Amino acid sequence: MKVLVAGGAGYIGSHCVRQLIAAGHKPVVVDNLSYGHKAAVPDTVPFHDVNLGDSVALDRIFKNEQIDVVMHFAAFAYVGESVTKPLKYYINNTSATYTLLDSMLKHGVKKFVFSSTCATYGIVKSLPIVEDMPQAPINPYGQTKLDVEIALKALAYGQGLSFATFRYFNAAGAAEDGSIGEDHNPETHLIPLAFGAAQGLRPALQIFGDDYPTPDGTCLRDYVHVDDLSRAHIAVFEKLEQPGAALFYNLGTGQPTSVREVITAVEKVSGLKVPVNYTTRREGDPPALYANSTKAQTELGWKPKYLSIEPIIETAWRWHERKPKGYQDR
Ligand code: UFG
Repeated sequence: MKVLVAGGAGYIGSHCVRQLIAAGHKPVVVDNLSYGHKAAVPDTVPFHDVNLGDSVALDRIFKNEQIDVVMHFAAFAYVGESVTKPLKYYINNTSATYTLLDSMLKHGVKKFVFSSTCATYGIVKSLPIVEDMPQAPINPYGQTKLDVEIALKALAYGQGLSFATFRYFNAAGAAEDGSIGEDHNPETHLIPLAFGAAQGLRPALQIFGDDYPTPDGTCLRDYVHVDDLSRAHIAVFEKLEQPGAALFYNLGTGQPTSVREVITAVEKVSGLKVPVNYTTRREGDPPALYANSTKAQTELGWKPKYLSIEPIIETAWRWHERKPKGYQDR
């Protein structure tokens, strides 16, 4: 398959590009490098520095490249920022996605794989989360992803689009060889901040609350390896052959892991101490989020290779040890 990977220079997109190549597919990356890293994309992969809101540029790409399927990873994903700058999120995550969909459909490309998030569920009444639970996001980031999910259903019904939406839990880890990994600017995610603090490159890690109703008082999350996420995107191709397919899957390991457990794993794997400060809760952090991914496992035969935090952290350490300053180190 020739796969247009929107956001292919970003964290999850760049890992998926590698997995696509390994599986014998041909990725074509579209990324405006607003947050992505050109160095994360292999030199052999066609690369278009294009904004997804630019319909003229997109039309040109769809005209020139014979694309079979589009994967869309290109979103802004800072929950806090989405609250203070909602239009930035509506314009990029929603509006630009509609431009991308319009352009691909105009050119007869009808297969779409969309990166959604567990943030579309909002505050859930029970755990683990299953796909048919009510979705009520509590921030604009989650809302923009849900808005696209709803539009996709209409396009499947009305225009024969075949799509799969993956609701990621906490993407984590790095390529097994440590060649690419997690590097956001600004960085807000727990694992890279913990490694940065341990390596003395960042301030002490702030633990946002240890008074949650969880076993050790810190938040529980479902950390899922970025390569496992990528593999699901490829496993779904066969299902997209069915015109009008409208598929929704949670992707997580189902294993709740606390902030403290992540820190313990970082220390064990790196042999370094993570300096920490305890501070107040971060606004908008639910106490616990973890997935039931039975649907992806049953329907796609998807089986995460990494089932617990330590092996995930081992891959992350290979990346952070090799590139302490991320892609800047290249
Ligand atoms: N945390 C800290 N200190 C930090 C950073 C994080 O204690 O410096 C804690 C958070 O409070 C949270 C956990 O570590 O309990 C994980 O936080 P991350 O920021 O790494 O990830 P989130 O769970 O907040 O966010 C992730 C994705 C979002 C997605 C969200 C859905 O990054 O894109 O899950 O809840 F929307």
